[in-house]
Formats: sequence, C-alpha cells, structure tokens
Amino acid sequence: MSRIAIVSAMTEELGRLHEHLDPGALCERHGGRDFWVGRMDGRDVVIVLSRIGKVAAATTATLLASHFDVSALVFTGAAGGIGPHVQVGDVVVATGLLQHDMDASPIFPRFEVPLYGADRFAADIALSSAVAAAVADALAPDAPHATDGLRPALAALAAARAAAGLPPHQPRLHQGLVLSGDCFVSSRAQCDQLLAWHPEALAVEMEGAALAQVCADFGLPFAVVRTISDRADDQAHVDFPRFIAETASRYTLAIVSGWLKGPGGR
Ligand code: ADE
Repeated sequence: MSRIAIVSAMTEELGRLHEHLDPGALCERHGGRDFWVGRMDGRDVVIVLSRIGKVAAATTATLLASHFDVSALVFTGAAGGIGPHVQVGDVVVATGLLQHDMDASPIFPRFEVPLYGADRFAADIALSSAVAAAVADALAPDAPHATDGLRPALAALAAARAAAGLPPHQPRLHQGLVLSGDCFVSSRAQCDQLLAWHPEALAVEMEGAALAQVCADFGLPFAVVRTISDRADDQAHVDFPRFIAETASRYTLAIVSGWLKGPGGR
C-alpha cells in the first residue's frame, strides 16, 4: 500500500480537501482527530487536521505512521516569511526544518535535538521536488486549468498590495530552511533574532520540524510546503487571520491537487 498523508494545522488551511476524495471515503477517529481515508486524483491518501503546535503535529504524525501505513507525509499550510525576499503569497518548500525554541544548552548545543546529534531534519528531496514543481506550475502567470481556484486568491492578494500602496509582486517559489516553534512570531525584533541565529531561514511556523522529527523516527519521507501569510512582523496579527480566512485553502487545493495529478504524485 502506498498511501500519502496530507496534513494541515488549521481548518482554514486544509479547507474542505476531504470533499475532493472519491466517493466511498471513510473517516476514522483516533486521538481526537478525524482521518479521512480514500482516493484523490488517482492516489490513496489520508487527510487530517493536526491542530496547532509541535506536540499536536507530533501526535498526528505518530498516529499516521502507526495506524495508517502511510508511505509519505506532506504538511501544507501557512507560515510567516522571514527571509528578506519572501513575500506574502509566495510559497516555501522546506529543504530542512529546525526547532528554533529547542535549547538544552549547556548540556547540548543550542538548537540541537538532544540525542539526535543534529539541529535540523532534511525533507525528502524527490518528494519535495515534486511538490515544488506543482507549486511552480500553480504560481505561473499562465497556470493551467488545474489551478483555476488559485486565480481569485492571486487577484485578491494583488488588490490588497495595491490598496496598501505596495508595488506589484508575482508570487514566487522558494526552497530552503524553515523554522518551527511553539509561538506565533509577530514582531520585527523576534524576526531579527531568528535571522541572527539562522540567517538562511526563509519562514517560520509551528509544526513542520516536529513532524520532521517523527518522520525521522519512523523512517518516512516527508515534505513541508508553506504559503506565506504574513511577514512575522508587527503587522502579522492582522495579515495572518485575513490570509487564513480568504486565501490559504485555495493554495492547499491548488498545490495538493496539482502535485497528485502530476508525474511526481504518481
Ligand atoms: N504561521 C503563519 N504565520 C506565522 C507566524 N508569524 N509565526 C508562526 N507561525 C506562523
């Protein structure tokens, strides 16, 4: 069985993805979560809402690994952009994930996950490349019919930028380091601190590195794809809820469906 898990932290991020499952899908409840098991775009999938934060993500990944015989996990959702060129509406596909709030120093080096001998977990290269290819297709100005759902979202983002007096921006794909921690980052000072520690970091969120650690434990390949909802700055508390309400689920559907239909999802 080659079943793929698709995970998001928030209802607004996952949207109504499970409604795109073929007829006959089943819902199983474990650990207080609903796992939707079925077929989508010709693939066996299980779709689940993890809830927010590292523990919730780790619980969900553990349940997926132990109850659903999954062969790979894809986490999709929003993140704050902290890399200088990472703008709202862009998409980051993680190459590696690090827990920015891990600190067992002086017993272990700061950020190192104790007894793992490393501070970061690498995403699966082939899976992440396939997801990145789907993102690039979805964001292309002449995107094919599969991403029709993204067009209104991109138009709304463009209108919001214009209203805020910002220059036009064509949403882009980035690939690199994503930071995870149990806090919503919402000040320039916090961002500057994260970048001082990890200058190569592109985005910050609250689940990816925990899912990555569980996948390392179970030897499962994974990818983390994050749409940028805010810049994790003093405006983040306004930008994030607006993006989540209006745009995030459209990105999820366009990316997941584009990936499952494409050669990388086969
Ligand atoms: N997810 C989306 N935006 C975020 C932020 N600013 N901090 C942490 N997680 C996020």
